[in-house]
Amino acid sequence: MNILVINGPNLNLLGTRNPEIYGTETLEELMMWLENSTESANHSFKFYQSNHEGEIIDILHDERHWASGILINAGAYSHYSYAIRDAIESINIPTIDIHLSDINKRENFRKKSVLSSVCLDTISGLGKNSYLKGLNILIENFLIN
Ligand code: DQA
Repeated sequence: MNILVINGPNLNLLGTRNPEIYGTETLEELMMWLENSTESANHSFKFYQSNHEGEIIDILHDERHWASGILINAGAYSHYSYAIRDAIESINIPTIDIHLSDINKRENFRKKSVLSSVCLDTISGLGKNSYLKGLNILIENFLIN
């Protein structure tokens, strides 16, 4: 599979950003760990991080002919960006909505992901394993379809 991984706003600060919530590993370390996991063998990856809503939408558009599955952690945009939601719906590629922290156990505004209705699944609260679980769901979905 060709897996597109998109990380949204403030995730570039992982490592120092709220380490009690997000841990002490950097985004680069998390993404290298994901790409080097056993599950990732035989799959190709492209990694992006952006703090800008429109740029995330452009990435989804530009990579739509390459990607066969998408892992997206849209950060706070997950909770209110109908534009990113519509972009995911428009390109019609199996997508998993990923969160490191458990969005159901934090502030009320985080409890709703507006992306979830256009994603295969929402995985939250497993730290970096949220990405791995999301990857496994994409692979399973690819194999049965
Ligand atoms: C997050 C959760 C969001 O509420 C927050 O705005 C983030 C990170 C997570 O990975 O847990 O930036 O998506």
